[in-house]
Amino acid sequence: VKAAIYRRYGGPDVLAIEDLPEPSTGPGEALVRVAAASVAPGDCKARAGLLRRFFEVSFPKVPGRYGAGTVVSAPAGGAFAPGDPVLFSTGHEESGAAAELVARPAARIVRRPAGLGPIEAAAVVHGAICAYVGLVEQGGVGRGARVLVHGGAGAVGSAAVELGAHLGAHVVATCRSTDEAFVRALGAQETVAFDRDDVARLHGIDVVLDTMGGEVHARSCRVLRRGGRLVYLNAEPFADESAGHGVELRNAKIDDRPEVIEAVLGLVAAGVFQPRVGRVLPLAQIAEAHRLVEAGAVKRGRVVVTP
Ligand SMILES: NC(=O)c1ccc[n+]([C@@H]2O[C@H](COP(=O)([O-])OP(=O)(O)OC[C@H]3O[C@@H](n4cnc5c(N)ncnc54)[C@H](OP(=O)(O)O)[C@@H]3O)[C@@H](O)[C@H]2O)c1
Repeated sequence: VKAAIYRRYGGPDVLAIEDLPEPSTGPGEALVRVAAASVAPGDCKARAGLLRRFFEVSFPKVPGRYGAGTVVSAPAGGAFAPGDPVLFSTGHEESGAAAELVARPAARIVRRPAGLGPIEAAAVVHGAICAYVGLVEQGGVGRGARVLVHGGAGAVGSAAVELGAHLGAHVVATCRSTDEAFVRALGAQETVAFDRDDVARLHGIDVVLDTMGGEVHARSCRVLRRGGRLVYLNAEPFADESAGHGVELRNAKIDDRPEVIEAVLGLVAAGVFQPRVGRVLPLAQIAEAHRLVEAGAVKRGRVVVTP
C-alpha cells in the first residue's frame, strides 16, 4: 500500500512515498480506499513541527487531515457497507489520509452524498467545518449580525463568507486587493484589502473570525463592539487583549465531530459551500503539494492529492 510518510519534522523534503503493509482494522473500524486527500496549511505546519505547542505527531507519520474515497470493509451490521462513498477526518497526531488505504473508526466516517466527488469533498470539507464551528457554534452568528472574516479568499475565509451570507449576516471580509471582486461574489457586502487598507476604519462589529492571529488579531479586538466575540483559529501567536476591549475571546476548536461534518455536507448539498479545487497532484508529488501550499502558490482553492 503506497503512502506518504515523514519520519521527522522538517521541510517538504522529509516527505517520501513508501510501500507499507495494508492497515489492519481493529474492532469498530472500517477500511477506506482513498481517492483524494487534501493538503492544508495545517498539514504543512504539523510536518514542519510548528504545531508542537498544541500536539506532537507520532512517527512515522502519514500526513493529510481529510480524505474521501470508498469503503472496502466495515463492521458488520454498522452504518457502512463495501462500496459506500465516504468522507473521513484524521487527527493531526494520528496517521493521515495521504495513502491508498486508511483504517478509521466507523464512527469517524460520514457518508459522502452521491453528487459530491471525492476531490471536491476533500477540497471543501476543512474550510467549511472551520467556518461552521467559527460562525455558528462559537460565533452564534444570525441574521443582521455584523461579521468580519479575515482571509476571505482563503479556504477557511471563503467558506466563512459563504456561510455568513447564507445566515443573513452583514459580512465584511479582508483579502488581497486582487481578490476583492472574488470575495464579494462569494457574498461579502464589504471588503477591506489588507495590502492597501486597514480594518481600523471598521467599528461596531459583532463577531470577528480571525484566521491570522498576531497583529491582525490585535486590530480585530479594536473593531468589535463591547460584548462582541473574537473567534479565532490557531495561527500566529497573539496577545490576549480581549478584557481591555470588553470583548469575548473564543477558540474555534476543530474536532471533526461527525454531526458537524454532516451539517457541513448538508450545506454543500444546499449550494451554500462551493467546493473549490486549487490544484490536483498525484500522491507521488506530495512533497511538491506541500511546497505549493507552504508558499501560498495556489489561490482560491485547496490542493488535493490523489493516490
Ligand atoms: N484548527 C485550527 O485552529 C485551524 C484550522 C484551519 C485553519 N487554521 C489556520 O487558519 C489560517 C488560514 O487557513 P486557510 O486554510 O484558509 O489558508 P489559505 O487557504 O492559505 O488562506 C489564507 C488567506 O489569508 C490571506 N491573507 C494573508 N495575509 C493576510 C492578512 N494580513 N489579512 C487577511 N488575510 C490575509 C491570504 O491571501 P494571499 O494568498 O493573497 O496571501 C489567503 O487568501 C492558517 O494559518 C491555518 O493554519 C487553523
